[in-house]
Amino acid sequence: MSYSKSITSSIRQLGKRLLEWYEANGRHDLPWRQSRDPYRVYISEIMLQQTQVERVRSHYYPAFLAKFPTLSALAKAPLDEVLALWSGLGYYQRARNLHKTALLCPDGLPKSLEELKKLPGIGDYTAAAICSFAYDQPIAVVDTNIKRLLSRLFALSSPTPSKLWHVASQLLHPKRPRDHNLALMDLGALVCTAQNPKCEVCPLAHLCQAEDPLLFGQNKRQKRKETTLHFGISIQDGKLAMVRSQKRLYEGMLLFPPVSPTSEPLVTYRHSYTRYNLTIHLHSLPSPPQNAVWIDIQRLQEYPLASLATKGIALLRQKLVL
Ligand code: ADE
Repeated sequence: MSYSKSITSSIRQLGKRLLEWYEANGRHDLPWRQSRDPYRVYISEIMLQQTQVERVRSHYYPAFLAKFPTLSALAKAPLDEVLALWSGLGYYQRARNLHKTALLCPDGLPKSLEELKKLPGIGDYTAAAICSFAYDQPIAVVDTNIKRLLSRLFALSSPTPSKLWHVASQLLHPKRPRDHNLALMDLGALVCTAQNPKCEVCPLAHLCQAEDPLLFGQNKRQKRKETTLHFGISIQDGKLAMVRSQKRLYEGMLLFPPVSPTSEPLVTYRHSYTRYNLTIHLHSLPSPPQNAVWIDIQRLQEYPLASLATKGIALLRQKLVL
């Protein structure tokens, strides 16, 4: 597509202002931005998909890299060790896919968008992010923050992913594509926020076509489903009986054995996970299931436990049931 002179000059002006804003206000100290190592970029992008920046930065990212500093170290690790480090992050399919990818390419990730997208768990966004942030390729990145920002900037009511990617590609700074993508991401996260956008400090406000920003780029929030679960508690010699979940949401993680409720629960608590608001009842279970995996209550961090389970164990401890 060829643009008129005035559009080309607006795009240039936008790029310049954006980069100036980024230099002064960007989140330059985020640890994954200090490295161009594709593995480090890859781990950060997978963790950041469904987890807040602060949780990833403060604990999960450094702990994961300390234990698995390279793709080949990850490939050599048993899946249970990878899941144990992912405990509490949720969406455990991400950890299983990381491990599968490491086994497929222990010597390094591929360098092209197409090859990256063939790997398990790497979609359009993650492939583009690796190409841009690790390999410095001139490829546009569109995450949820950039989607919202572009939808407002160009007053796009319900743009398709390919429309957004097209717009982002047209804007991409030809000489500094990596910084440009990071700048858009930060402007979306810090200024063009979902609620209460700070238009008064936005460097692109004079170009913005959205009269009311709240009418554009909002994600429709799905209502969480109320669900009740009953589990059994069996303890022998300081060990607690768990079972390996076959359910997709928790596949491979250790959960309490499911039971039908026959007695008053020892403990009841609430827990939110993905699309569910759960009410969980823990009952005494005198005879544990045959397939029980016995875990040492003093060494919980060594096992692949979901937050649902660690929360329940903490409550049982408080009530001196453990
Ligand atoms: N920097 C690079 N990728 C990022 C992401 N997904 N979220 C926040 N900062 C980032």
